[in-house]
Amino acid sequence: MKLLFFLSGGHNYLAKKEALALLAAYHIDYKLIYEEKQILILETLNSKLDFLFRLGLTHFVLEIIDDSYIEDGIEKILSKIDWSIYLNLNRTYKVRTKQKDNRIENLELLIAKSISKFFNDKIKADLTNPMDEITGILYGKKLVIGKKIFERSKTEFNKRKPQLRPFFSPTSIDPRIARAMINVSQAKKEVLDPFAGTGGILIEAGLIGLDVYGIDIEEKSVEGTKMNLLSYGIKNYNIKLGDARNSYDIFGKSIESIVTDAPYGRSTKVDKDKDKMYRECFISIYDSFKKKCVIGLNREYPFDEIGFNIDFVYKFRVHKSLTRYIHVLSK
Ligand SMILES: C[S@@+](CC[C@H](N)C(=O)[O-])C[C@H]1O[C@@H](n2cnc3c(N)ncnc32)[C@H](O)[C@@H]1O
Repeated sequence: MKLLFFLSGGHNYLAKKEALALLAAYHIDYKLIYEEKQILILETLNSKLDFLFRLGLTHFVLEIIDDSYIEDGIEKILSKIDWSIYLNLNRTYKVRTKQKDNRIENLELLIAKSISKFFNDKIKADLTNPMDEITGILYGKKLVIGKKIFERSKTEFNKRKPQLRPFFSPTSIDPRIARAMINVSQAKKEVLDPFAGTGGILIEAGLIGLDVYGIDIEEKSVEGTKMNLLSYGIKNYNIKLGDARNSYDIFGKSIESIVTDAPYGRSTKVDKDKDKMYRECFISIYDSFKKKCVIGLNREYPFDEIGFNIDFVYKFRVHKSLTRYIHVLSK
């Protein structure tokens, strides 16, 4: 089947990496068909896609029903669709469209009419709480029509904004980015954050069912992280007071993946010589993961000098005095 991932507009590069990393983690073979800004289309023979719920930077995923050139004529495109494969009379549906400049007038209505006609006006539409959703997206010279198989809940992510947690620090990372960092790490079992802070990264890992391990050098962060995890119902955690320089020894084993936002700027009261601290911590981190290591920093760091392979670095501006560099590393 063909899938369309509609990616986050602000972070489409990381969003694409997140989606592809999840496919790799779950051993899904695919062929990339098309990519452009927010649109990623691929083909796969695998239909077991129950990991899509993990996505943080994809707005929604469609199973593509039809992908045709609009010059073929909209009526002709719609008339060849067998809607009974995707919709049925026992379920309600809604049509949604996305197109720039309203290029095809009444596109939504045209699709809805085609569905209604197919089912002899017997299928019920429900515009507020439909069971199935058909989406039409116009891109370039093509119209994709698909059935939504995943939609990310904006409201749920908004509920986890750092300022809404019981233990709060302004340095904490946006939950959608934290989720994407976990997904690019390809972790399926467990994640370690050796600079746990307020637990922003670990909350996202815990919510997708991973075991979470954390280290922080400050007692108040250790207690705060536990408090935050519990407030989101996460119980499978192991958070310890300690120094990231001893990441391996603290848990006595290496963890599947490490995902962290390293301390920087004014919040780093603990270490005056930051470069020395980074080097010592990153050397220890190198020994403490198996799959991938994803590290956020306020600058690009030469991780290759420590022995890591740098898969890619994603840079984005958080606010006027902070640009984050997310390093995705392997061995
Ligand atoms: C940038 S914050 C982490 C933010 C975190 N990602 C969050 O979402 O809240 C850095 C944290 O690292 C901790 N820290 C600083 N030096 C450390 C070290 N050597 N070992 C472990 N933790 C350290 C600080 O106490 C602070 O809580």
